[in-house]
Amino acid sequence: MSDTAGPFVPEGAGIDGLREAATGCRGCELWEPASQVVFSAGPPAASIVLVGEQPGDQEDRRGLPFVGPAGQLLVGAIKDAGIDPAAVYRTNAVKHFRFEPRGGRRIHKTPDVHHITACHPWLHAELQVVAPGIVVALGATAGRSVFGRPVRIAAERGAVLEGAIPDSSAKALLTAHPSAVLRMRGEPGYDDAYAALVADLRIASAAAG
Ligand code: URA
Repeated sequence: MSDTAGPFVPEGAGIDGLREAATGCRGCELWEPASQVVFSAGPPAASIVLVGEQPGDQEDRRGLPFVGPAGQLLVGAIKDAGIDPAAVYRTNAVKHFRFEPRGGRRIHKTPDVHHITACHPWLHAELQVVAPGIVVALGATAGRSVFGRPVRIAAERGAVLEGAIPDSSAKALLTAHPSAVLRMRGEPGYDDAYAALVADLRIASAAAG
């Protein structure tokens, strides 16, 4: 049988119940080397849900999503888009940090499709509970999880889509992952990349209802 979090997801649970249950998730192999599960942050009745890829090194240590460098950039972009960061529900497509140990460091490794698929029952349950107006998928991994298909950021970003999330009535919008913007810091395209992320978040906020 393929890996799946399905049997670990309690039916009818709220966000706190899901978070608690996720601590015992063995739906794929990523739980073992990780320090802990990183579930989500933000109000369970939010009108905007942001979905990232997976926790990074700092998120894994602290048990909270988007607290590292990419998360700080994201919070700045959320504020610049005129959104209160505390009003947004933040989560990830994959709930454990995938990394490769190298010389005493833990190097981020992009999740494989089977990790995204295995972890999807958590995101599905979160979206059922939160029932947001819009789900913003940050990057290709989040896009794959939210839309259930491969996505292309450059071609598809910034559009408000209806009926695009399987089994959810929330609207959806795909944009770049904040890490992709962060990697451009110091390069000529950085300002434009950051502005494009802010613009997409503004569009999402206006569509959230
Ligand atoms: N990147 C993500 O996609 N999620 C986090 O929580 C942190 C960094």
